[in-house]
Amino acid sequence: MRVLGIETSCDETAAAVVMSDGRVLSDVVKSQIALHAPYGGVVPELASRDHARAIVPVVQEALARAGVTIAELDGIAVTSRPGLSGALLVGLQAAKGIAWAAHKPLIGVDHLVGHLLAVFLRRADEIAPSYPFIGLLVSGGHTALYRVDGPALPQIRELGATRDDAAGEAFDKVGKLLGLAYPGGPRVDRLAAEGDASRARDAVPAAMARRDSLEFSFSGIKTSVARHVGKRGAPLGEQEVKDICAAFQGAVVDALVKKTVRAAELEAVPRVVVAGGVAANRGLRAKMSEACAKRGIALSIPPFASCTDNAAMIAYAGALRLARGEVDGLDLAPSTKTALLRVTRKGGGPRASP
Ligand code: KG4
Ligand code: ZN
Repeated sequence: MRVLGIETSCDETAAAVVMSDGRVLSDVVKSQIALHAPYGGVVPELASRDHARAIVPVVQEALARAGVTIAELDGIAVTSRPGLSGALLVGLQAAKGIAWAAHKPLIGVDHLVGHLLAVFLRRADEIAPSYPFIGLLVSGGHTALYRVDGPALPQIRELGATRDDAAGEAFDKVGKLLGLAYPGGPRVDRLAAEGDASRARDAVPAAMARRDSLEFSFSGIKTSVARHVGKRGAPLGEQEVKDICAAFQGAVVDALVKKTVRAAELEAVPRVVVAGGVAANRGLRAKMSEACAKRGIALSIPPFASCTDNAAMIAYAGALRLARGEVDGLDLAPSTKTALLRVTRKGGGPRASP
């Protein structure tokens, strides 16, 4: 089966054609980072308008690169939740238009399910994990641990989530505090490699919610960095910024790794998958590999293109729904909330205000 996937939940306009066995035939992502950078975060109305401009050429390019016509598709999958309402609507309307005109099934996909299943995409010769696994989803909008027994919604159970900021959101906010360009995550990652965490210890406490729980909390450490920067007054020196990046990243990574290992042990599931944009973080990849190797836990982290927002993961999750006979009607509506059980993130909505 061949499925077209469409993703417009936040600040990437993306389309991809994927086979139901995970083979990626094409994967087109148009990022809006340059559009939102001057505002230091995603501006929802600008996002919707740019999706509207980009969606047709992006879909056409995905079909052309895959060498597939609309008539040859078996279904149209689209992110229907969670995300910015106006942004989601653009992808939904495009998908509905194609599905209606070409008489193809329409399949709505939860963006978080897409992230968790991205590890099954086959771009080269990746080895996919088997079920069940513990999924650590770390993105700009969400941070949670899941027990994943299979690809369907009822088979995915949230074990714990952040009580405040998402990990990527914390990276971006700290980047902003340190005067780095948006999005801060990749920049903090780069600078952390040249910093000495021990020199910034008092600026950054541990990022640990109660030791025995599987919940996260990142707003306290972000506030400490803000307080430190405020107290310091004068502009921070180059090395100081690097040291704070190293200490902050170290604290976030430490919490993510400890809770993930704890989840694997509590659930007696010795397989871990890391998904979402923050899975690109070099510190997290290194520490998680080390911790899992020490305990005999098998670790899978998808390649970078599968970690950050993309439509291939949406097409794949949609293909599996289609294979199970699950399709949606043209009344499919967007939602700002995930359909996965028990999400404790405070507030929801956009991940950064202009
Ligand atoms: O999954 P994603 O592309 O979009 C959401 O669904 O949110 O994740 C984007 C997030 C941003 O917050 C970005 O700063 C963060 O992932 N990110 C990183 C790195 N690369 C991207 N955070 C830390 N280190 C990185 N290398
Ligand atoms: Zn995402």
